[in-house]
Amino acid sequence: MKEVSIGLIGFGTVGTGVVKILQENRDILDARVGVPVRLKRIADLDLQTDRGVNVERSILTTDAWGLVRDPEISVVVELIGGYEPAKSLILEAFRNGKHVVTANKALLAEHGPEIFGAAYKAGADIAFEAAVAGGIPILRSLREGLVANRFEKVLAILNGTCNFILTAMDTNPRVSFDEVLREAQALGYAEADPSLDIDGIDSAHKLVLVLGLTHGIRVPVKSLHVEGIRNIDPFDVRMAHEFSYKIKLLAVIKSHGDDVDARLHPTLLPENHPLARVDGVFNGIYLRGDMVGEQLFYGRGAGCEPTASAVIGDVIEMARGVARGEVGRVPPLGYPETWKAPGRVKQISEINTNYYLRIHAMDRPGVLSKVSGIMSEHDISIHSVVQKVRQSSGTVPVVFLTHRAKEADIQTACERISRLEIVEGAPVVIRIEDETLD
Ligand code: HSE
Repeated sequence: MKEVSIGLIGFGTVGTGVVKILQENRDILDARVGVPVRLKRIADLDLQTDRGVNVERSILTTDAWGLVRDPEISVVVELIGGYEPAKSLILEAFRNGKHVVTANKALLAEHGPEIFGAAYKAGADIAFEAAVAGGIPILRSLREGLVANRFEKVLAILNGTCNFILTAMDTNPRVSFDEVLREAQALGYAEADPSLDIDGIDSAHKLVLVLGLTHGIRVPVKSLHVEGIRNIDPFDVRMAHEFSYKIKLLAVIKSHGDDVDARLHPTLLPENHPLARVDGVFNGIYLRGDMVGEQLFYGRGAGCEPTASAVIGDVIEMARGVARGEVGRVPPLGYPETWKAPGRVKQISEINTNYYLRIHAMDRPGVLSKVSGIMSEHDISIHSVVQKVRQSSGTVPVVFLTHRAKEADIQTACERISRLEIVEGAPVVIRIEDETLD
């Protein structure tokens, strides 16, 4: 093979990064592949905007369908995002014998079975390193470098926007969630409609892909417990501090034999946990493999060049395969397409962990005993309790940390506590990841 030709669909932020890397690092990329890797065509609806990179006008087109059918192109890079026309373009690329690189986590998380199945049927490769944790090569590490391991535990910060907001609230515990969100939007970290990020959907899409790689379990997002950070109150951030914790939006995967716990929610993490130091827009993945022990991955989860770095990593892997005529070396999710995982994802009601519970109660005799009485009736053992000073409303905030308890018991107890006349509103419940509490 004289050269490997690439077609790029989507000339936005990441697409521009891809073009930049292919141009600026052309010498090392060609040397590493052994044959030239060339960008043959770029498809985008907007051919006017100056992206700050030089490309020959002749390779620009608005016709993405022509690109995925171009017989000279071997690898299609899909960076338009969204479900359609991205899905149909990818399927058409497979039908035309192309391999596909994409950063489209939402598409793969929601339509994975159809897309991975089509790639398998067509004998094509699909790679998506940029879909999870931007520039951090976590997927390839799970699929190849760490293939010797059973994954006992994965805790991951997978959304830079949420981590930026939580870090800002932690640094300045007097600012509200809304103020920090506005700052994140002004700095260009959060979208005008930030709901995909702050409601946890973006992280949950990434969790679905990671779970496919760690355990071979493929589930739709809607089957997972997903909670975002919209309801995080500065008071809880301050209380977390008092207990030497930080609040992070975590994707949690834990093995229980063949079954797993897989969930996404705000979590109290000890201040000395390696992930507690992953601040700002950075992403981090902490994992424990049965053979390798603990590992921490840290880096930028978004942005033009870091994300494009991951895209190019996939492009080069494919170009090497194409140049040698050997594709399909490693299945995209690390298990053969025909393999069926023996385990299942536990319901959230089945999990067992430690909890932070905060209530607002009347400052009267017997209140704590009523609340703790309900907790004891549901087998919930209190690890520590802190009552703060009375507020202008006449209520006092009381925070409990619990020993390990069953989620179903916590939910029932909280439901009963919220019905007490002496308690204002529903308890705030935040799960804790701390192996030193039992
Ligand atoms: N919006 C994501 C984040 C990056 O804030 O981390 C793309 O998944």
